[in-house]
Amino acid sequence: MYQAAVVTISDRSFAGVRQDDSGPAVTAMLRSAGYEVIRTLVVPDELPLIENALIDLADKLDAALIVTTGGTGFSPRDITPEATLAVCQRRADGIPEAMRAASLAVTRRAMLSRAVAGIRGRTLIVNLPGSPRAAEENLSAVLDTLEHGLKMLRGGTADCAAQP
Ligand code: MTE
Repeated sequence: MYQAAVVTISDRSFAGVRQDDSGPAVTAMLRSAGYEVIRTLVVPDELPLIENALIDLADKLDAALIVTTGGTGFSPRDITPEATLAVCQRRADGIPEAMRAASLAVTRRAMLSRAVAGIRGRTLIVNLPGSPRAAEENLSAVLDTLEHGLKMLRGGTADCAAQP
């Protein structure tokens, strides 16, 4: 069982103007997939605040997986992908590629998500869009495969030859 953290990135949820439905939806999905969700946070769309939250969760809490929701679109304040890449040493482009491929079958607007995924130390960080439905659709496209990546990342025996 891996430990995960969920970060909702939204000015309006941070200000209490909009209820955060996406964070709880993502948390529920992770828990039913067997993750222990050890922290959930709401942060505004501010680059240093997002970076600091990700760094804390990765370096101090040692979460194996951090999932963010929100801030991946084209609005002027959407900077989640930039904050994520700024704190990662390695990119994991296949994850957002898989999410967008699956999501394009649902909506053409999937191409408007700028979500990224990357690795900071021993932690995998994955961006999801902000609406609860979009977050669920994107996470469900990759959730079953993340564990294999985490096994490799955390130094376990991950047998890539064994097909699921
Ligand atoms: N992906 C799925 N599966 N379903 C959706 O409804 N919405 C898209 C896209 N990805 C969507 C989706 C839209 S409209 C936007 S603007 C982007 O995600 C970014 O969302 P965000 O700005 O809330 O992060």
